[in-house]
Order: sequence, then structure tokens, then C-alpha cells
Amino acid sequence: MYLRCILLERVFPDGFLWGTAISSFQAEMGAGEPSDKTDWWAWVNDETNVSVERVSGDTPLDGPGFWELYDGDLRLAREDLKNNSIRLAVDWGRVFPEPTHDVEVKVKKDLWNNVWKVELEEDDIKALDRVADHDAVERYREILKCALSYGLTPMLTLYHWPIPLWLHDPIACRDDMASTDRRGWISQSTIVEFAKLTAYLAYELGDLVDLYCTVNEPRIVSEHGYLTRRGEFPPGLNDPSLFLICLKHLCIAHGVAYEQVKRWDRSEASPLGPSTVGLVAVLQHYEPADPSNPDDAWMSQFIDYAFNEWNLNAVFHGDYDMNLDQVVEPWEQLPHQVKGCDYIGVNYYAKWRVKHRKTGVNPLLDYEFTPCRDDCSDYGWEIYPEGLRNVLSWAYKKYRRSIYVTENGVADMGDKLRTRYLRSHLDEVYKSISLDGVPVKGYYYWTLMDNFEWSDGYRISFGLYNVDRETKKRTPTEAVPVYREIAEKNSL
Ligand code: BGC
Repeated sequence: MYLRCILLERVFPDGFLWGTAISSFQAEMGAGEPSDKTDWWAWVNDETNVSVERVSGDTPLDGPGFWELYDGDLRLAREDLKNNSIRLAVDWGRVFPEPTHDVEVKVKKDLWNNVWKVELEEDDIKALDRVADHDAVERYREILKCALSYGLTPMLTLYHWPIPLWLHDPIACRDDMASTDRRGWISQSTIVEFAKLTAYLAYELGDLVDLYCTVNEPRIVSEHGYLTRRGEFPPGLNDPSLFLICLKHLCIAHGVAYEQVKRWDRSEASPLGPSTVGLVAVLQHYEPADPSNPDDAWMSQFIDYAFNEWNLNAVFHGDYDMNLDQVVEPWEQLPHQVKGCDYIGVNYYAKWRVKHRKTGVNPLLDYEFTPCRDDCSDYGWEIYPEGLRNVLSWAYKKYRRSIYVTENGVADMGDKLRTRYLRSHLDEVYKSISLDGVPVKGYYYWTLMDNFEWSDGYRISFGLYNVDRETKKRTPTEAVPVYREIAEKNSL
């Protein structure tokens, strides 16, 4: 009887967080002050990148302008969508437009010369404060206070992709990596600077934030930056070994950031407090393009391992399988790098059919995703709600942590797919909680309003609200009343 009741009413657990996710570079610009000190800024403005169509040629300056218009957007999230949370990100280049290298901190390395521990003292935080842009920090405080005043629990992402130019020159790296020492995540000095950033943010913003995401999607940053035929993300290279180095360094960066937040955020902003810290992994559903073809079957399993599993094995078990043979040799085990991960953030979008191209060079260069067959989004991603339940169950069974669905959404300019996408995916989240026993604590739709979709600019629309690029007016899509009702009733 009880079960029937739950199944009929489909009520989500008490305290479930309903939100949308946005990111700094994608949402902040458009109504005033640009953030022009990052690798992403340089990347989308580079003429060569535009001419060879690595990037769209659109400018983030035409974005929704959240940096100035945040009050209206947060009000929409609360009053119109009836959400109780919002996931947003900090732009590293705004907080530290100038280098933090000169703030000397204690760095310990492991036997393999990997950064292992970064130790900061109170004086180091003060020294960082002398380098930081106080106006930017103050603006982030205002944004967070505004969210809290509307009853939105903020989930703060510490790294959602742009890095300051003083750490990464993506054009020089693209053309000749040896010509620069500003190599972004390929260089472990970026991990050290990230530790400083995260310590400083936890110290400065910790009284307003309890829920943190360290790194957003290590796999996408590594794949689209270093394993890409189109070259769409900085620095646009196609080299399996760099892909793995980047992935490894981002996993180490997660651990280092985890320790900083735990050390420097001691104050509670909500009943969750003082700090719950997780990694955001993009977990997709992979299937062989031709299930009867053993090569496709093998490749699909391999991609699942490399793209879904690898970063979680690194963060939870210290397994750094650098030759991707799916056997973790003793020298690939770095258990001391396991620092903690309180929850798993799952970004889920679609199903991918994997084909083996058989060039025999390297499996990472041998895979291909076949074009979407049916139920495709504007991006050509195959809509497959069941995949969300699969990845939630898999992640929970394997790593035993609570989960937030930190992104889930659909590219849908014509507003034909969004409502069904939202409902069907929430249906799977519900089954995952009620039938599979997965402790999913919240759901964040990607994204609140149309924004700058990285290398694809504005040709892609994920927003629950469409944005007029001239007037900045927000117009609700058909999914808005649907999401409002679900969030308000806490049930489907
Ligand atoms: C990213 C977002 C992006 C979305 C849609 C996710 O991988 O975190 O920044 O806009 O996918 O492409």
C-alpha cells in the first residue's frame, strides 16, 4: 500500500534540491563588464580559430549578462520556477586577473613528482587577498547573498573551464606547446595555483556557501581540448597522451581543492554546512553502434571506461591507469592522492553509439560516435532518459556516495523537446531513488537561460528561458510551468 502510494504520487524526498545550473563564462557577460583575461576569451576571439571554424565567431559579449542582471535571474529561479537551489560558478580570471605565483606556499610532492599536498597559512590567504580583484569578489558575495535571500541554496562550482591567461596561453599551446610555459592543466603548477584559488574562495565565500563542486567534467576538458579532431576547446590538440595527462591533473586538482575547502570553510550557511564537496563527472550512456560487431562492443566498453569511469576511479580509489589497459599496475596506484569526495555530481545528457574505426593507432583515436538516428536534439545528441537511471545506479553501486544530478538538459531552439525531456528524465531520477535506492539529493536543469554555448556560441539553446540578445529580455519556454509545478509540489 505504502509503495503504491509512493509510486502513484511520486514524491521526492524531503529537502530535495531543485535548481538550474549556470556557469560564469557562459552566463555572466553581455550587459557590461567583460571577463577578458582567460584562455577561453582568447580562444573564441582568435581569428584563426574562427576562420577554420573551431569556434563559431560569436562573442560572449552578447551573452545574457548575469554579472549585472543576476537579481532578476535569481528572482525568476525562485519566484517563477519555485526552485530552492541554484548551481553557479566562479570565474578564476575575474578573481585573480593577475598571477598568484608569488604567493609562496608549501608544496609537497609524491615519489612520482606529482603535487600531493599544498599547504597554506592564514598569512598566505592575506597575501592572496592583496592580489585578488576585490570588486569581483564583492560581486560574487552579492550574487550569493542575493541567492540566499531568495531562498536558493547556492551550489558553487570552483572550476567551470576558463583559466587565467597567465596560466594558459591556448594559442601558443595550439601552435607549439614547447614555445610557452603557460600550459594550463598540462602543467602541475596549475594545480598549485588552483589550490590557492580554492583556499581563497572558501575563506572569502564560505560563510555564504556550503555546497561545492570542485571541477566540472574533467573528461570534457581533457577530451575536447586534447583529443579532438575539430579542435573546439583550448588548446585544440589531438594527442592521447596529453588527454590523459590533463585528466590525471584534473583529478589531482579535485583532491587538492577538496582539502582546501575543508580547511578554509568553517562556517555554516545552511543546515548542510559547513562544506559538502564533490566532483562533477559527465556520465553518458554508451552502446555499440552495431551490437553484433565485437569490435564495436569492445570499443563501447572501452569508451565507457575511459570517459565515465577513469576519473571516478582516480578520485575514489587513487587508480591512475595511465596506459588505459584497464589493469591498474602498482605504479599506477596513487592511494595517497585520494583526499575525499562527499558526493558525485552527475551531468547526463544523452546516449552515444560507439563505432570502432580500426586504424590500429591508439584506441583513443579509433573511436567514432555514429550520427544520431532518432529522437535527436539540435546538437545531434540522442535523447535517452533511461540512460540517466543507468548511470545513477552504476555510480552509486560502485562508489557509494550520494548524488546530485548537476546538469541535465536539451539543445532545443524550437522549444519542441524540452518539456518531454525534463519530465522523462525526472521520471528516471524518481525511479532511481524509489526503486533502486540511489540517494539522489538534488536535480539541476541545464540551464536557466540561453547562454554562450562555448565553441558553438548562440546557435544552441539550452535555456529554460530564451534571451533576446539585444534587449536581454527573458522569455519562458514551455517547460517553465512544468518545472515550476514539479519543484513546488516536490513531486512528479
Ligand atoms: C557543460 C556545460 C555545457 C553543456 C552543454 C556540459 O558539458 O558543463 O557548460 O554548456 O554541457 O553542452
